[in-house]
This record gives sequence, structure tokens and C-alpha cells, in this order.
Amino acid sequence: MVTAQDAPRGATPARPVAVAVGRPIGVADPRLFGSFVEHLGRGVYGGIHEPGHPSATPEGFRGDVLDLVRELGVTVVRYPGGNFVSGYDWRDGIGPVEERPRRLDLAWKTIEPNTFGTDEFVAWCRAAGVEPMLAVNLGLGDIRSALHLLEYANFPAGTALSDERIRNGATEPHDVRLWCLGNELDGPWQLGHRSAEEYGDLAARAASAMRAYDETLELVVVGSSNADMATFGTWEHTVLTKTIDLVDHLSCHIYFRDEGDLDAFLRSADRLDAFLDAIAATIAHVQAATRSTRDVRISLDEWNVWDFRAYDELKPGRVFEEAPRILEQAYTHADAVVVGTLLQSILNHADVVAIAALAQLVNVIGPIRAEPGAPAWRQTTFHPFAAAAQSAGETVLAATVEGEADASLESVTAAITRTAAGDRVSLYLANRSTTTAADVDVELVALGATGIVQADLLWHPDPSATNTVDRPDEVAPRPLAATLDGDRLRATLPPLSWAVVRVACEPGRG
Ligand code: AHR
Repeated sequence: MVTAQDAPRGATPARPVAVAVGRPIGVADPRLFGSFVEHLGRGVYGGIHEPGHPSATPEGFRGDVLDLVRELGVTVVRYPGGNFVSGYDWRDGIGPVEERPRRLDLAWKTIEPNTFGTDEFVAWCRAAGVEPMLAVNLGLGDIRSALHLLEYANFPAGTALSDERIRNGATEPHDVRLWCLGNELDGPWQLGHRSAEEYGDLAARAASAMRAYDETLELVVVGSSNADMATFGTWEHTVLTKTIDLVDHLSCHIYFRDEGDLDAFLRSADRLDAFLDAIAATIAHVQAATRSTRDVRISLDEWNVWDFRAYDELKPGRVFEEAPRILEQAYTHADAVVVGTLLQSILNHADVVAIAALAQLVNVIGPIRAEPGAPAWRQTTFHPFAAAAQSAGETVLAATVEGEADASLESVTAAITRTAAGDRVSLYLANRSTTTAADVDVELVALGATGIVQADLLWHPDPSATNTVDRPDEVAPRPLAATLDGDRLRATLPPLSWAVVRVACEPGRG
């Protein structure tokens, strides 16, 4: 294990960088710290659910995973997919477990045992202290089935479907507020893939029908699967024009991977900034063109680092099996720094992004890993997410980085939040340079800074270092030597590092 004291100042002299704290730019919705559980690989089975595990709860939930989910600070979890939902019949996952059918899942070419379904998921959410976000099947599914799921989940009692839920053990309605109108229907890989016109019409009909039951639901309409889709931009325009007065959020997904150029990979957050700016501009354009006053926000409900070349695992010839070990990416220290910078980007778009979900949660491209019988552990990417989720205040303040000597790689990035009471400011700082340390000087003017309450650094000498079941803390936060001198906070960020600094302030200032 390495300590922060081991951190070098880099091959070249440290670069001085000033960070200026500006005006409030948005409210950081707690749901920016969401995640995602899909019936995929060992995300559910052997991930959140393992009845035989030593830590298992009476419901068969892994207790050690629940503890880590709480520590991670996740607020909302999307379920059951993902690509999976477009072939899923929710009825297969309810009722007596021994009577549930085993089915082929054609999205991931696996066998779905259906021993975990909607009721188990909502019970798991209650145990984890997170809000459920359910996706309905608008791929191969239809609106009637979506309405039946809504009634099953939310109607108190006295109808066939709500009484069925009660017989299945859930006497109280699940009261799910957040609903996704399908998943990635812009993608040719999606079961039930459609054109933007077809999907826009379908989503409008589904949203109207769901609102006929409950006008107060929060509905998320499908946007683009990534920034490289040929239809990116036009899809959002077409779909939103047809649905703007019926929905609350426009979904988008994006994943980043190291394609052999670490510096380019470390700039992933610049691409996320551009992606979110373009979607926000499209929403504003549709609002203007339709004269709609509806406040539609972005739901970035899948984001992460993911080497999706692992899709190759799904090539023809793959044998259908239950809970296969697929997409179990071992995250590196460099990945953790990128995830930290993506979180900065999300916070810095708090004016337009209402929901964000790190995809996914356990085993499958997740910040948590779990092996049968063994204790679960934190991947490298767990740390920046947990640090931000645990410390973010309600207001995001503008952070401007100044004094960059080398414009070829704008190495230092920042995000800043403040609590509503004004008694804490949290700074999230990254140094994306692989060679040069940064002497960061933050002027906390008019915030009434009185002392540092937390200063942690995520750094490792090896960008490819990972955490494993045998070495679970190889990459972990260590104390950062930060100083507060009046209004000036100073800290040195070693090359390829990410830090969180929390400062106590006089309430009511700023
Ligand atoms: O998160 C893995 C997959 O990525 C999801 O199932 C899909 O929505 C996306 O393409």
C-alpha cells in the first residue's frame, strides 16, 4: 500500500494553478449520485442477491454489499435494465419463486431464472435506503403491460393487480415515482429498436396512459445511447418534440474507455461536458420551438468508464448460461481519476442534469465487487464516487481554473459545492497531468472559511493499479496535506490524482 507521502511532485517542476470560486450555478440534486442494477451477468445474482452468503439477510440480499452501497452514498437505483428490459416480462419475476419461469434473455444471451424481480428489488432498495427507478419495456413490450406494472407496483389495494402484490407479500404500495419509458431504443442492438418518429409516438402514448393513472409520476424519455450515434441530436429533437409536455427528463448514456492514449482518456470529462451542453441546447431549442414551458432536465442514467470491447464476449456461439461472469471490469487508478473528473462535470452541469446513474453497481462494470462466499470489496472507482456523494452540498458554485502554463492538457479540473446553511464548502480537485504536480491555490473569498475538516487524496504510482479480493485497499484515499491561510486553501496534487477537501465556513456568508 502506498501513502500520500510517497506521492512525487512529478518529473517537471510543479505548476501553479489558481482556482477561483464563483457564483451558484445550480442545485445539486441528491439524485446526481444514482446507480444502476441490471439483470446482466452477476449484477443481481451473486451481486446484490446471494442467499447462501455468510452476510445474507433473511431475504437473501448480500449484507456486505448493502453496507458498501450505503457507504457509497447512492441515492437512487435504476432497474431492471438496460438492454435486458427490452425483452423482459415483469410478470415472470413476481409470485412464488419456485413457480417462476426460466427464460432466455436475448439481450445478453443468458438464462434468466427470475428468482429476483420487482418486489425483491423494491425491498432491496428499502434495505439500502435508495429510491427505486423502474424502467418499463417499450422494446418488445407494450403499453398495457407497462400500465399493469404501474398498477401492480403503486395502486394501494382492491384491484386484481394490487391484490396480487399484497398476496405476494408487499402489503404497502411500492410508490415508485421515477419511471423510464424504455431503454436505448435508438440503438440497432436494442430488442424492439425503432426510429425516432416511431419511438416518439410510442413514448407519448405510454406517457399519456401512465399519467392517466398518476399525473405526478416523473417520466424519463429515451435519448441517445452515446455521443457517437449517427442520430445524436436529431433523435432528441424528434422525440422531445413529440413528448415535451408529457415527460420530466430526457435520458442519455455515455461510457468512456482508454483506447491506448492515456492523455486522451484523462480528458473524457471534456467530452462529457460537450455531450451535456449539446443535449441541454437541444432541450432549450425544442422548448422554444414548441413554446413549451415544461422544465425538462437531463437524466444521465448510464455513465461510467467501460471498455465495451467486452461486448465481443457476446459474439455468436456464446453458450446461454445463468449469471455468467461478463463485463466484470477491474478498474484501475487511472479509471478512478477519470470517474472523479466525470463527477466534477456532472456537478458542474447541475443546472441542467437532475439525475445521474453510475452504470452499474456490483460486479458488472461496478464500483463494488463480490465473489461467492468472500467479502465484497471496493473497486478504485468506488472512492471518488463515495467521497463526492458523502460530501456534496446542495449548491454548486462555479469553479474557474486559471494559470495553466500548458494549454495542451488542461490538467487541473475542479467542482465546488456548498451546503444550504453555508457551513461547509466541498472542493473536488483533479490533476490530469501524468508528469507534473500542481500547486493549487483556491481563494475562498467571502465564504468565511474557518478550518479544513477533511482533505483526502486518491493517488497511486501505477496508473494501472487495481483493487482485488486479496488487496482490496491497494488504491484508496489517503490524507492530503492541505493548508488554510485566511481565505486561501493550498494543496499540492501529484500527477494523476483526485482529491476532496471539505472546509468549515461561517454559516450565512457568501
Ligand atoms: O450498462 C450496460 C449496457 O449499456 C446497458 O444494458 C445498455 O443500456 C447500455 O448499452
